[in-house]
Amino acid sequence: MRDAADVLANVRRGMLPAHIYNDAEVFEAEKERLFSRAWMFVAHESELPQIGDYVVRRVMDNSFIVSRDQSGEIHAMFNMCLHRGMQVCRAEQGNASHFRCPYHGWSYKNDGRIVGMPFHKEAYGGEEGFARKGQRLLPAPSLGIYNGLIFVSMDPDAEPLEDFLGDFKFYLDYYTKQSASGVEVRGPQRWRVKANWKIGAENFAGDMYHTPQTHTSVVEIGLFREPKAEKRKDGNTYWAGKGGGTTYKLPPGTFEEKMNYVGYPDEMVERMKEQWSQEQVDVIGRDGFMISAASVFPNISLVHNWPKVAEGDDVLPFISIRQWQPISADETEVLSWFVVDKEAPEEFKKLSYKAYLMCFGSSGMFEQDDVENWVSLTNTAGGSMARRLLLNGRMGMLHDDSPVVQPLTEDEFCGPGVAHVGYGEYNQRHLLNEWADYLEKPAPVPANIHVGAPQ
Ligand code: FES
Ligand code: FE
Repeated sequence: MRDAADVLANVRRGMLPAHIYNDAEVFEAEKERLFSRAWMFVAHESELPQIGDYVVRRVMDNSFIVSRDQSGEIHAMFNMCLHRGMQVCRAEQGNASHFRCPYHGWSYKNDGRIVGMPFHKEAYGGEEGFARKGQRLLPAPSLGIYNGLIFVSMDPDAEPLEDFLGDFKFYLDYYTKQSASGVEVRGPQRWRVKANWKIGAENFAGDMYHTPQTHTSVVEIGLFREPKAEKRKDGNTYWAGKGGGTTYKLPPGTFEEKMNYVGYPDEMVERMKEQWSQEQVDVIGRDGFMISAASVFPNISLVHNWPKVAEGDDVLPFISIRQWQPISADETEVLSWFVVDKEAPEEFKKLSYKAYLMCFGSSGMFEQDDVENWVSLTNTAGGSMARRLLLNGRMGMLHDDSPVVQPLTEDEFCGPGVAHVGYGEYNQRHLLNEWADYLEKPAPVPANIHVGAPQ
């Protein structure tokens, strides 16, 4: 990457070289140094409820079969036949005890072990010539699961997933652990946008500033109960571990009253209280902050919102997870899942899904507003003038780099990490600092070669 030291130094000061949002060299560096190491979300366990269920997902340029084997264990296997490299599984999802390669017919169990080779004896001399035992589809270098969220890292020496997520696990539970049964997901909806992947990740991490401008029409048509100004004035942004997000301040009341206010029925609220720690309950009940959008470095985001889904004043909450899957410097595939507590009443699930589709499905109102900006930004960042421009990413910082407002104290906000009330680009800077940390480190040495034939 050209002028890498300068680019990263500027990013750390909150002065953002505009071209990082559309630069093929930067993208190559991201592939080599960042996406070769960081943990990336591929699927949720609830997408694989039965023995033999599988989905096929990409991690950058690599296709993986994520499967549940006969003993219930989850695997992520490189979707490439050991013989001559055909993609073993061509379907996007399904249920299978075995995968048979369409090219010459080698077959594999759903845990990756090779079991069948046509004309094994005649072509390879049978077990003596090619012992099938021990041969398997190449597993993902590292696999980790938290609250049913399945992650893959391309680094065989990746730090444990839970260490990577760090204190953000506290906040991840709000979205993905609302009862002992966990959540179920629907989707993903998939679509491509001509925008750089970082823009979405930064936006969801902490961009409360864009809402009154970009999403004016959504508020004006009355999709939300709170008046425009009141809704945001006491919201905060927090950053903990590898992720951060935004909250809205709710009217005074108990934990139960606040959860009811955003539309959760009593029975769901009771289960949340049983699941969450006292501090997790207190962030909402005592401190009054309801979690909203968030991002986990590098490229997943979460949404929690409570629009009106029908005439009148009733609102209903929905949760969504999305992944910003990088395709190139100027293109991203968005994967968007609807998320709901498995134990939620059926009527709640139905209406919550409707709320999700209305706001953040592929044709959701927020989605349309946001993407228009991001495509335009990416397009402009690809021009030569963008190389001469440092964008201002310093909101919430004074000239001497001290914050405009001091972080909240533990008495004001009992969640882990650092939280600030009001507007600021603290989280976007945290995210880009992580990005700079990865881009500074040399690329990992490739792991040993996996041999698809006997040695
Ligand atoms: Fe798969 Fe030949 S490439 S069996
Ligand atoms: Fe938005």
